[in-house]
Amino acid sequence: MSLHDQLESVYQTALQELENIQDSASLQGWESKYLGRKGQVTLMLRETGKLPQEERATFGQRANEIKNLLINAFAEREDAIRKAELEKSLSEGQLDVTLPGRRYALGGLHPSTQILRRIQEIWAEMGFQVYRSREVESDEINFTLLNMPPHHPARDMQDTFYTTQPDIVLRTHTSGGQIRAMREYGENGTKPIRVILPGMCFRYEQVTTRSEIQFHQVEGLAIGKGIRMSDLKGTVAEFAKRLYGPDTEVRYRASYFPFTEPSMEVDIKCKICGGGGCSVCKYSGWLEIMGSGMVHPVVLQNGGYDPAEWSGFAFGMGPERIMMQRNNIQDIRYFWGNDLRFLEQF
Ligand code: PHE
Repeated sequence: MSLHDQLESVYQTALQELENIQDSASLQGWESKYLGRKGQVTLMLRETGKLPQEERATFGQRANEIKNLLINAFAEREDAIRKAELEKSLSEGQLDVTLPGRRYALGGLHPSTQILRRIQEIWAEMGFQVYRSREVESDEINFTLLNMPPHHPARDMQDTFYTTQPDIVLRTHTSGGQIRAMREYGENGTKPIRVILPGMCFRYEQVTTRSEIQFHQVEGLAIGKGIRMSDLKGTVAEFAKRLYGPDTEVRYRASYFPFTEPSMEVDIKCKICGGGGCSVCKYSGWLEIMGSGMVHPVVLQNGGYDPAEWSGFAFGMGPERIMMQRNNIQDIRYFWGNDLRFLEQF
């Protein structure tokens, strides 16, 4: 086939191919195939020099003409495809501006976390640092060293989750952390301590509106020389005023815990009814906010302190309970129920 014929045939195929192109990606391919630096038409133009002198002019003219025709055809096709593609994207992306917007879901802190942080903040202001004890604990620390030897009846007050490992339990309260804090911070019973111990506790209990198998506690422990019951009373009263407001009334009731002696329960005048009696305080006018007492000499000893020289107080409170009293929440199961309708209210 002569170069002339080849040129014409390239021209025809190029036109045909162009007709069939439907998208801009293939269009790019077509352009470089025919008109690019190594495109077929470009290469043919370069062949001009190989022709006999007298043919060069006509061939060159026709080749340039074809090149321009193809450039124009390309531009036309490109325009058409662009329009078609625009139309398509417009019709596909139809927006219904009357649809309601999608709410941007912002996370929030769990109510337990909120009250825990508030409690920690208050104790921090009062000079108590946070000590993190463990949730999986030895029977010895959770019970024995707290003056509850095996078979002690007080163990039955806290139904326990045992593990398959002998003597390893899920802590039933944060009080075991008292032993760890004394041993870790006390430097063999030579240094005073002021800590709070927040964390999750577990009890093998029937889940009801008032009891859950897991709940938080915030323990407190102060060890020093000459610490007395009046220090405990003043400290918890101050805490109650900071948490519930300056005019909060506090009362103390004698109680029993194996690891404190004497022991007392702390109540505040009900914030909902002002003491007159309502469903939140069960018509007593008072709300129990914590258990507390002077650290038992045996416990001091187990922590490395000499009870003849050192003394201290301890307390333990339940953040979920406090939250329930404050917000009149009737059922503790809401806390771990993961119902957003509940959680989003805080
Ligand atoms: N550990 C006790 C409980 O779980 C609370 C408590 C802590 C009482 C510290 C006295 C001192 O009920």
